[in-house]
Amino acid sequence: MPTSYAIVGASRGIGLEFVRQLSARPNTTVYAVVRNPTSSTFLNEAVKGLKNVHIITGDVEVPESMRGAAEAVGKLSGGKLDCIIHNAAKMDLASMMKGFDSYGSLEEMDEAMIDMFRINSLGPIHTIATFLPLLRAGSAKKIVVIGSEGGTTDFIKFLRVDDMASYGMTKAAQHIATTKYAMKLAPEGFTVVSVSPGLVDTTSTMPESEKNLPEPPEVARLMANAKAKGLPAGAQLPQSAVSKMLRAVDRLSPSQNGEFLSPTMNPLKVLPQIMMNRAAMLVGRK
Ligand SMILES: NC(=O)c1ccc[n+]([C@@H]2O[C@H](COP(=O)([O-])OP(=O)(O)OC[C@H]3O[C@@H](n4cnc5c(N)ncnc54)[C@H](OP(=O)(O)O)[C@@H]3O)[C@@H](O)[C@H]2O)c1
Repeated sequence: MPTSYAIVGASRGIGLEFVRQLSARPNTTVYAVVRNPTSSTFLNEAVKGLKNVHIITGDVEVPESMRGAAEAVGKLSGGKLDCIIHNAAKMDLASMMKGFDSYGSLEEMDEAMIDMFRINSLGPIHTIATFLPLLRAGSAKKIVVIGSEGGTTDFIKFLRVDDMASYGMTKAAQHIATTKYAMKLAPEGFTVVSVSPGLVDTTSTMPESEKNLPEPPEVARLMANAKAKGLPAGAQLPQSAVSKMLRAVDRLSPSQNGEFLSPTMNPLKVLPQIMMNRAAMLVGRK
């Protein structure tokens, strides 16, 4: 059966990889929503010559822009869409890693946090609200919002992450918005979930403007904490993280509505394994 997907925030990184993998499937149409098609050079290169990918303009921060994106998709799709994956987020390292004390003043902090909130927390609401009529007319009724462990209190306590404040807070708000939609749309047979990719190295499609910036010191601290907790060192490649997430999306059923899924790695699930390893080391078996 033909299936249609919209990937919102598809110019690079994880969103681009969703486009790559989904467009390789037979009978599949992909709508790649980006805020600036001309500057989305990695996407343009990846989909050159592909007839089943349509690049659509849409800035998640601007409701009018997302209304236009939904209208453009509707015109091409005959008014329906099976699945939407909202992936867009502000997550350049410099803004994302900041803690409460990393700003010049509280005023500067407020401004930066509100800016991130508009993209990371309100963005997914703009996406879902504007695409809902198309999704209602589709057959799969799946809404996937790419979340982050960084926006969960368990993860923050587990790795003692006192920085990454704005990112964590805006992703937490995003998770709540997603769960609210899950509850709202359950009677219509929708499955609405947050899916976390785990740690993914997206530097191969990083914009030139970010490439030569020094790594914020908080990154090394986070990695050291993760290592001390026995978590796997290093990040996954987008190919691997996206193929695991797509396997989870393919299998989604209404019984999972409202869940936070972590198909690549959930520190809370690996915790028992870490404890067992530690215990085995202590008794000299490893
Ligand atoms: N990478 C990780 O380790 C990791 C871990 C946990 C969760 N995540 C989540 O995974 C998702 C993707 O992350 P990533 O690492 O692939 O990030 P990324 O490489 O920085 O890509 C972010 C994407 O969002 C788009 N975007 C930003 N603002 C937008 C806007 N206003 N309207 C439309 N698109 C916009 C960007 O488009 P432009 O090219 O126009 O800027 C880009 O395509 C995010 O939701 C992030 O929170 C990532």
